[in-house]
Amino acid sequence: MRHHRTIALFLAALCLLNAARGATIINSRHNLSVSGPGPVRALSEERVCIFCHTPHGGRADAPLWNRRDSAAAYIPYDSPTLKALPGQPTGSSKLCLSCHDGTIAMGDLRRCRAN
Ligand code: HEC
Ligand code: HEC
Repeated sequence: MRHHRTIALFLAALCLLNAARGATIINSRHNLSVSGPGPVRALSEERVCIFCHTPHGGRADAPLWNRRDSAAAYIPYDSPTLKALPGQPTGSSKLCLSCHDGTIAMGDLRRCRAN
């Protein structure tokens, strides 16, 4: 019985941690809305999630993804002692590069209207 209670408390703590995670985006530089804490932020847009997610017309590559992929071709790391064969980035890396390679404006979204 005691063990069950310990496990329940542990799970409750995990849930709280997950809830806190939502708050971390608000306090992070990935909050690009007008309320964002960093230097890169919108002048008037108040929606925090819109820069990455949209309720309608999103891509399936990430949940309700509101950005397009960069078309850039990258030069992967190379070295004479490198045994691996790094290729072009794929998957989640492409999602990040939609902002982080500097070719697509932060506010260049698939959908920016609320409906
Ligand atoms: C800077 C980009 C960015 C912003 C801003 C952002 N997200 Fe996300 N979000 C992502 C990415 C990338 C994923 C996919 C993560 C993965 O697949 O592991 C994701 C996934 C999610 C998921 C699915 C999680 C899961 O476990 O499947 C939810 C829910 C979510 N985001 C909610 C939000 C909410 C709510 C906001 C606004 C408060 C927000 N996001 C803001 C990038 C962002
Ligand atoms: C919607 C655009 C956008 C997307 C998508 C995005 N980022 Fe960012 N990211 C930013 C901006 C803007 C900053 C802040 C840059 C600055 O302040 O100079 C940033 C900052 C960061 C930082 C530095 C955080 C800090 O506190 O200094 C890291 C690390 C980072 N991003 C990783 C990622 C990863 C990993 C992904 C993909 C899962 C991702 N980003 C997707 C826009 C984005």
